[in-house]
Amino acid sequence: TRVAVIYGGKADEHSISCITAATFLRAMDASKFEPVLIGITKDGAWITDGDDPLMWDLAHGLPHVERTADARDVVLNIGAGADGFLARNADGSLTSLGHIDIVLPALHGPYGEDGTIQGLFEMMGVPYVGCGVLASAACMDKHYTKVLLAAAGIPVSPGITIDTRRFDAADHFAADGERFLALVDEAGLAYPLFVKPSRAGSSFGVTKVERINDPEALAAAVYEASLHDWRVLIEQGIDAREIECGVIRPKPTDSPRASLPGEVVLDKRESGDDQFYDFDSKYMDAQASHTEIPPKLSDDLIERVRDTAVHAFHAVDGMGLSRVDTFVTADGDVLVNEINTLPGCTSISLFPKAWEATGIPFPDMVTLLIEGALS
Ligand code: DAL
Ligand code: MG
Repeated sequence: TRVAVIYGGKADEHSISCITAATFLRAMDASKFEPVLIGITKDGAWITDGDDPLMWDLAHGLPHVERTADARDVVLNIGAGADGFLARNADGSLTSLGHIDIVLPALHGPYGEDGTIQGLFEMMGVPYVGCGVLASAACMDKHYTKVLLAAAGIPVSPGITIDTRRFDAADHFAADGERFLALVDEAGLAYPLFVKPSRAGSSFGVTKVERINDPEALAAAVYEASLHDWRVLIEQGIDAREIECGVIRPKPTDSPRASLPGEVVLDKRESGDDQFYDFDSKYMDAQASHTEIPPKLSDDLIERVRDTAVHAFHAVDGMGLSRVDTFVTADGDVLVNEINTLPGCTSISLFPKAWEATGIPFPDMVTLLIEGALS
């Protein structure tokens, strides 16, 4: 089975995607699968024969897809479907990359996890691993994830959504801080607030606002988020533990299954007002956090987290894999924070570890997902 593994991409999470791809490649059963590597540069160029992702891991910093001397552009002949993946040679001629049985998009964030590339493969008629167009698009956008979850009766964080295109970015929204404050008050949101881009991952553009009635801080946070997406969420911070759960549904005929949940425990708390699981504490600082699988929660709560994760996966029409991130409050409420349809698979990521602890080692998971998507 020839598997096109696509990684990198135009999103902020480019480097994390490269490492996720490396994890998939290392786990791929060589007796069953032949990977065909396609990297997407930060500029959006599709190339093959570039660097070997097997060399990449978090311990060596953040990799990216580069156009090496041997690299060739990938050209898609949409109408040729599974045979439509071509490479442009130095003399300009095109060579087929061969028949592609299935695509494994090892991508995170916009243009990878948001339904756009899934739509491309739908157009080509090539099967792919993971969620379809609707679930990908809905889960990439935190605003619409909440709309779907709330409609399914799943609790979500209280918050408001702002279309920042309607405000004046020229002054970093400084003139709009009072208006943002009025919207927060009107919605009755309690502090601290988390201001985040609706479509981004790995905590890019997220700011915690602790000071009450501080229009400047709020405007600055909205501006920061708007650099990643014009749709910006202002959410009430939930005093809760963050418990994450892998969910898989390899084939459409399978019922979704939740892994044992895991908790991301922050170990090192710096002083300052931005203590949360941001990009650096996620990926750049191995001492900043660890995961506990299963977390120290009652059996009842663990089951409720798993049930909620499956329910949420259903609500967004999930397929293949996802990681559902929940908040569990001291009162035992389980809220869904977000659903990652292509969860990170780095050495510190929860999805592979949680399934390992549930009895599915990652190589078996890769086989399950690929064979499931082909069936
Ligand atoms: N968005 C990152 C990769 C994650 O959810 O793991
Ligand atoms: Mg994410």
